[in-house]
Amino acid sequence: MSDGARQTNSRVQGSRIDPYFDQYAERARGMVASEIRALFAVTARPEIVSLAGGSPYVSALPLDAVGELVGKLVADHGATALQYCTAQGDVGLREKICDVMSLEGIRAHPDDVVVTVGSQQALDLITRIFIDPGDVILAEAPSYVGALGSFAAYQADVVHVPMDEDGLIPEALEQAIERVTASGRRIKFLYTVPNHHNPAGVTLSEERRPRILQICQSAGVLILEDNPYGLLGFDGEPLRALRADDAEGVVYLGSFSKTFASGVRVGWATAPPAIRDKLILAAESAVLCHPMFSQLAVREYFETQPWQEQIKAFRELYRQRRDAMLESLDAQLSDSCYWTVPAGGFYVWLRLPEGVHSKAMLPRAVSSRVAYVPGTGFYADGGGADHLRLSYCFPEPDRIREGVRRLASVIEAEIDLTATFGPIPPGHRTGAETPGPGDL
Ligand SMILES: Cc1ncc(COP(=O)(O)O)c(C=O)c1O
Repeated sequence: MSDGARQTNSRVQGSRIDPYFDQYAERARGMVASEIRALFAVTARPEIVSLAGGSPYVSALPLDAVGELVGKLVADHGATALQYCTAQGDVGLREKICDVMSLEGIRAHPDDVVVTVGSQQALDLITRIFIDPGDVILAEAPSYVGALGSFAAYQADVVHVPMDEDGLIPEALEQAIERVTASGRRIKFLYTVPNHHNPAGVTLSEERRPRILQICQSAGVLILEDNPYGLLGFDGEPLRALRADDAEGVVYLGSFSKTFASGVRVGWATAPPAIRDKLILAAESAVLCHPMFSQLAVREYFETQPWQEQIKAFRELYRQRRDAMLESLDAQLSDSCYWTVPAGGFYVWLRLPEGVHSKAMLPRAVSSRVAYVPGTGFYADGGGADHLRLSYCFPEPDRIREGVRRLASVIEAEIDLTATFGPIPPGHRTGAETPGPGDL
């Protein structure tokens, strides 16, 4: 066969799925649909109680006031709001960001801040400027699925570090650093979500924070502190950020998605000057600049609206939903499962009875009209099958109770199934890898 014929032939064969399959860059192999994305289409069906997605309850915002503010923004400052801006972001917004961070003990200058399209873009940019294929990132076990997606896209080698109910375990971190260093590989950074962890629902204790900083300082490991939920604690004052005690060794990521609105897509990175400069260059090549309209809407909201009161209202709303979930779990599943008790944020992390596989169970759960996220989405190393993530942020308390009731009967049936047929062997692929709407 001639080369031309072979090419045409492979194109024809490939076209059944993806005609460009052989042409993608190596790094595109790491880009696979997250479990959450595949679920979105299914969980939008009204008959399904979704305890899966982590969407904030934006309907609790004063929408009329926000609407008025946006209208006024265009009428009074349209020529600026509808224009390009610098890649570092609007300076007035960066000043507001410094005010917000001061609630967690951070003293930063607006020059230290780079505005991003949600903190997700900050994760992407940081990974882009630090990671060559095969470089090691230390990350909690489990870890936020969107961060793992960015790490995979840049072909990082993620080494998980265990947590317990007080967050990241310092001794385990020390051991992981020793192990990776002894293998001759370089750790580029530690990725951590210290407050109201997604998905684990735990918070790094006050006592452990200086120890984590000290371990990373003495090993020369940069910390990437991702903190979208820090102001959403249900009791007491926000904890002091890691960045508050180490301006040189920590890159701090923040977001307005959970304290204001996820749809404005405004987040930020606060970084030491050299990293900040690289971030600005990376942002410039990615998007030129971030939407000025969104930035000014957020700035206006934080300048003119009672935002601290609104955060209190969000906290109360989420606390009620958390309580509804915990009470239902206690009533329905206390004989068979364990779960974390979050002191803030959106998530409960539930451990299933032995032998029950969260991903294998998902299609049956969706048939029973309840959805969750299987634990496997939060591990880069194939772990997590014995866990699942439940979110209480979006559904009303009655729907949460109904969802947990449905989930409890699915788990019960699964226990019977496992008792009859035995557990799924470790490493077995269940066929529910990335469930699309048609699969479920
Ligand atoms: C831990 C964590 N980091 C980052 C993000 C991304 O948030 P955003 O891009 O909306 O700021 C999320 C979103 O759920 C998250 O839970």
